[in-house]
Amino acid sequence: MTACQPGILKPIPAVARYVTYTLQPGADARATLRKLCAQADGERTLAGLGLSLVTALGRHIDELRAFPEFSGFGIDVPSTPSALLLWLRGEDRGEIVNRHRALDDLLAPAFTRTGVIDAFTFDGRHRRDLTGYEDGTENPKGGKAVAAAISKRKGIAGSSFLAIQQWEHDMHRFEAMPRREQDHTFGRRRSDNVELDDAPESAHVKRTAQESFDPEAFVVRRSMPWSEGARCGLVFTAFGSTFDAFEAQLRRMVGVEDGVTDALFRFTRPLSGAYYWCPPVNNKKLDLSTLKL
Ligand code: HEM
Repeated sequence: MTACQPGILKPIPAVARYVTYTLQPGADARATLRKLCAQADGERTLAGLGLSLVTALGRHIDELRAFPEFSGFGIDVPSTPSALLLWLRGEDRGEIVNRHRALDDLLAPAFTRTGVIDAFTFDGRHRRDLTGYEDGTENPKGGKAVAAAISKRKGIAGSSFLAIQQWEHDMHRFEAMPRREQDHTFGRRRSDNVELDDAPESAHVKRTAQESFDPEAFVVRRSMPWSEGARCGLVFTAFGSTFDAFEAQLRRMVGVEDGVTDALFRFTRPLSGAYYWCPPVNNKKLDLSTLKL
């Protein structure tokens, strides 16, 4: 039976690794992708294909496009596409490291690895960003999550569209703000996660309030904190039945609608941004029949 990759709807895992690849010049990825299908169950190993890979295979998916760049109001939002993304999810970092090495070897005939990000859960009960604010509270649940994240369109049913950005926090800058300003940055109180009615228009949850868009812009967020050496931040991930809801939120965050930019930009900025098509699974294997594979 065809279904969405189960990792999309499950809570975030204890540890994870995001790995990106480009297609080698002139490589025929078909045989390698067939091998990947058997290894990517969509739960422990979730896969997303970028526009460059789908078009290299001579195929087209209406919803799949390139991540938009934005520049303005002192903010740069980069677009850093790649051919393939793997989200390795697990409980044990050592196991993920070894799984990653095996997948690198499997992909080596056609793909070159371009990036690795190690991510983790902060406070498993509340799933917090490194600033201490709970992340994911307003995610749709149950049938609403399925409706927001999974496509029902004939031909690609069970697919999802993943927007992903690596954000780097300036924790010193954030920690230097008085607590009230920190709470107003998000629009929620850190101590009890209550939404603040008196938060300014720039507050993150006011910018992104999903019901406030026309049409409503619901996504399923599965973001995870990351760190490398002394650097840290959030790997923001949003799954949608298309990219439209995410893009509407991002446009409002960067001030395209009204010149008001999201207060988050005062202490964090995106280093990357990419869109991927996450195909369905069939019998715990990636189903690339849409691509005639
Ligand atoms: C460093 C980057 C980010 C951080 C630390 C962050 C953190 C948070 C936190 C703490 C909340 C409040 C609790 C919740 O409902 O989850 C939230 C809400 C939300 N965020 Fe973010 N976020 C980030 C980037 C983004 C981006 C790039 C988008 C989309 C373009 C986004 C979309 C949303 C949405 C849709 C909500 C729920 C709004 C609502 O309907 O109330 N976030 N975020």
